[in-house]
Amino acid sequence: MVSLLFIACAALIASTYAQTPKYVEPSVPTGVPISGNYSGALRPQVHFSPPKDFMNDPNGMFVDANGTYHLYYQYNPTGVVAGNQHWGHATSKDLYHWVNQQIAIFPPDAHSNIYSGSAVVDVNNTSGFFPHQDNGVVAVYTINTPTSQTQALSYSIDGGYTFQPYSGNPVLSDNSSQFRDPKVIWHAPTQQWVMVVAYAQALTVGFFTSDNLKDWQHVYNFSHYGLLGDQYECPNLVEIRMEGQKEPMYLLAVSINPGAPLGGSITQYFPGSFNGSVFTPVDGAARIGDFGKDNYAGQFFYGIPGDQDQISIAWTSNWQYSQVVPTGPSEGWRSSMSLPRVNYLKNVSRVGYDLVSAPSSLAPVINTTALVRKTMGNGSVSLDYSSVTSGALYFQINITNIPVANITGTANFTFSSSRSGESLKAGYFLAPDSAFFIDRGNVRGFDNPFFTDKFSTSCPYNSSASSLTWSVEGVIDRSILEVFINGGESSATVTFFPEQELDTLKISSGDLNPAVTVNAVVYGLNSAWARFEDAHGTVAGNVTSQKD
Ligand code: FRU
Repeated sequence: MVSLLFIACAALIASTYAQTPKYVEPSVPTGVPISGNYSGALRPQVHFSPPKDFMNDPNGMFVDANGTYHLYYQYNPTGVVAGNQHWGHATSKDLYHWVNQQIAIFPPDAHSNIYSGSAVVDVNNTSGFFPHQDNGVVAVYTINTPTSQTQALSYSIDGGYTFQPYSGNPVLSDNSSQFRDPKVIWHAPTQQWVMVVAYAQALTVGFFTSDNLKDWQHVYNFSHYGLLGDQYECPNLVEIRMEGQKEPMYLLAVSINPGAPLGGSITQYFPGSFNGSVFTPVDGAARIGDFGKDNYAGQFFYGIPGDQDQISIAWTSNWQYSQVVPTGPSEGWRSSMSLPRVNYLKNVSRVGYDLVSAPSSLAPVINTTALVRKTMGNGSVSLDYSSVTSGALYFQINITNIPVANITGTANFTFSSSRSGESLKAGYFLAPDSAFFIDRGNVRGFDNPFFTDKFSTSCPYNSSASSLTWSVEGVIDRSILEVFINGGESSATVTFFPEQELDTLKISSGDLNPAVTVNAVVYGLNSAWARFEDAHGTVAGNVTSQKD
């Protein structure tokens, strides 16, 4: 009798902890990082991009107790278009130098894909996966099959480098093929996990709660808010600081694709409050985080307290053309991630609540000797930056002392190629209804009807002030331009694909009121990848000796 009981118990334990199968296609490397060549003319040098093949959404981003940032990403290791989705993985101590790690999550079988999701550190072992540690990581993601999308778990006992699928998967299903992208956070006041997940074609974000990450209760639906597009994807809920206010607020980000106002994919956000089940937006406005066309599916790192600036990274492409951009055939990779950004909420003139996003400190990559430092009124300054081997620059232009009674003139910057004459232009038109524009139309390496070439944003100002200050800072990085207006009150991410490298910068201003001052400063950025290259230019990644 005793032995029968023992056998029954052993069988139960074995089935609970049975290794859930994972499918590794013969051509997909397992246990080693994939190597890549980061020297291509279009390869960003201070942005993350995959060693090779196709990448889309950031996934599972968390910061661990040692201060290492983990970035997982939607990854097809067998091609330069989407499909065969896995979770790729990279780690960084400073958000700019990334170490490619082995593929972290594989599909359970040949007919399934691992779609987007998130990761948490289960410090108190609520899941039961981690009896002997406080740094266990649980990844929560969508398993996509031709007929279903369900939410599943994998757990990691080695701090997020390798994962074991949970034998009880899926943990949440809805008999639907359009139910995806779970983002989980810990809600301290109610001592529970909260998941937001998209009922994509119902244009609804579902809210679920759980004590153990395995059993989920539906508590709330956020439906048909803001811009609808055709699908909601990749919802994100984060506690976030509001400038000048003691208590943090919450922000719900919802990505929409297709159907963005400029076409394809874009992310909108809603500032609001959250009581553990219901999210209440502050107002009825739809707010977009980026006025370009190449910023999608952004995530906030898990593990940053709500009273600190939240750090985000987004995918810098658009589903309308991500799978046909020229980096695929010419360099064997497609898509990169945005700069890491620090984010907080602020009350800005006229608009009200605004998400301020600015680059996380560039100190790890900036070369501190300025290449340009110029103070002028109407005038111009040019820089040949062909000797900056990364091809990447950080620039800042401050326009001060603009009299409200006479807002006129322009302040522009143009990056161009001395060889092909191609150019990428941007700047301010100062007027009572001022605007900032970006024009990628004269960059000629990619032609596509959806690759919209001009973007602009209005620059509302406080008319009660007597003089105004406007600024723009940004990073250009071989095939990406990111600009941040007025400290990040608005921002834009724009990819561009030149036939010949851009190597010249001209900053110019004209027709400004004589009182106005323009300060321009430009720095070179050091490649974050070159230091990992071997003699053949190959970046191998290293999981055995360098887990940073
Ligand atoms: C968003 C998205 C997600 C999905 C993933 C698949 O870009 O469509 O909804 O999980 O990409 O790669």
